Amino acid sequence: MKKRNDDILPDHKAEAHRTKEMPAPEYGLFAMNDALASLGRGKKYYLRTYGCQANVRDGETIAGMMEIMGYANTEHPEEADVLIFNTCAIRKAAEEHVFGEIGMLKGLKETKPERIFCLCGCMAQEESVVSLIQQKYPQIDLVFGTHNLYRLPDLLQEVIQTKKRKIEVYSEEGRVIEDLPVHRSQSCKGFVDIMYGCNKFCTYCIVPYTRGKERSRRMEDILREVEKLKENGGREVILLGQNVNAYGKDLGMEDGFTDLLIAVAETGIDRIRFYSSSPRDYQESTIQAMQDHPNIMPALHLPVQSGSDSVLKRMARGYTAEEYKQLFDRLKKRIPSITFTTDLIVGFPGETEEEFLATLDLVDYCQFDMAYSFMYSPREGTPAARMDGQISTAEKKKRLAELNAHLTHWAKEKNQKYAGQTVKVLCEGRSKKNADVYSGYSEENKLVNFTSDKECEGEIVDVKITDVKSFSLDGHAL
Ligand code: 5AD
Ligand code: SF4
Repeated sequence: MKKRNDDILPDHKAEAHRTKEMPAPEYGLFAMNDALASLGRGKKYYLRTYGCQANVRDGETIAGMMEIMGYANTEHPEEADVLIFNTCAIRKAAEEHVFGEIGMLKGLKETKPERIFCLCGCMAQEESVVSLIQQKYPQIDLVFGTHNLYRLPDLLQEVIQTKKRKIEVYSEEGRVIEDLPVHRSQSCKGFVDIMYGCNKFCTYCIVPYTRGKERSRRMEDILREVEKLKENGGREVILLGQNVNAYGKDLGMEDGFTDLLIAVAETGIDRIRFYSSSPRDYQESTIQAMQDHPNIMPALHLPVQSGSDSVLKRMARGYTAEEYKQLFDRLKKRIPSITFTTDLIVGFPGETEEEFLATLDLVDYCQFDMAYSFMYSPREGTPAARMDGQISTAEKKKRLAELNAHLTHWAKEKNQKYAGQTVKVLCEGRSKKNADVYSGYSEENKLVNFTSDKECEGEIVDVKITDVKSFSLDGHAL
């Protein structure tokens, strides 16, 4: 593809900028015309989404837009006319994976040059990634960022017409764009964004740069989406934000997240979950709402990152290990059936053996039901990447293995209490590996594989647990 000079490239400095002005929601921005509505007639798209639930939800918007243009989905890249890589920038390994896949699929472009490769999502917001694409990845025709998803139809049309590569990445604080189409990947449960962006600037994290500032959707727009999900057969809603406890602060709401949670609970939807919470902003009223409303599930993802106060300070997390433990204990006492999952990072710059051991201590104290554990990965432009005392990969690997041994031990131990018990499972369908087995999640967010005498997809069923594994439970529907 030829180069062009009207590209808009990411700008890291501008991405870090924060003003006090809050954007008003924009309605009706997404519009189709006849040409766009038939752009994909008879054609197919392949979509690969990496990363967190926010990205998965963006992927569902992308799928919705592609289908309105007439494109049909395919899971086979070789059948596709448009290939979309909706990427994640959180760790280097995630990025290498994306480039590996795009490299592997290069041949598809050679056999059919009119095939279009698009890269979007968080990686597109990075200066270094876009410059690498310009230099080494001629097969990528279209790059757009997290702020201009809604531009996909127009951008695609432009690339098809001009046969020129287009890069359009905005480095703005971010807007709140409503009324985008959505094609949900599951009907029994669905993600609903309640806010976008992040203002926390933890020193290791790229997200405040790639996703802009913290901005909340209006409560009425969120509730409308929840109602629609429910009307379409949804039994569970998962409220999404980088730090949901901060919901509504930008709208002047005093206790916005709790108010929202209660309003969502009052819609009567069977199950409500939310990701991710910050230990820093957890309100007493939120705990009360969880206690008062049985449709708010007793499972909490509460990322801790480290058990060492000095590391937490260098990460700029805004709490100590003791404060985390106190919150943990308070939640556990008030909601006895609650389960906890967390995120942990090993090998943060300067992490000493002693600091690492403090993380193991915290893990043994909290006995998490499950955790996502990561080796620290330096992200260009973040403060931690410039800190002294970067830890070697060999040491990080060693610490990760040690941490994982503790986590696996507790995961298995925590599952033991479900042996012989009956749990309520929202059945998501038949297992891909074995069609005789259904799978779904319990209220406590345990993965349950089970047999059933009746078809039960999309239903909430009582399952008696017969066998316990480290990361799942087996059982039979009653
Ligand atoms: N290196 C390793 N892990 C990271 N995370 C975020 N940034 C980094 C990084 N630079 C982890 C955190 C976060 C989760 C989504 O990813 O644990 O909670
Ligand atoms: Fe990855 Fe973070 Fe972007 Fe989610 S917000 S896709 S985890 S970089």
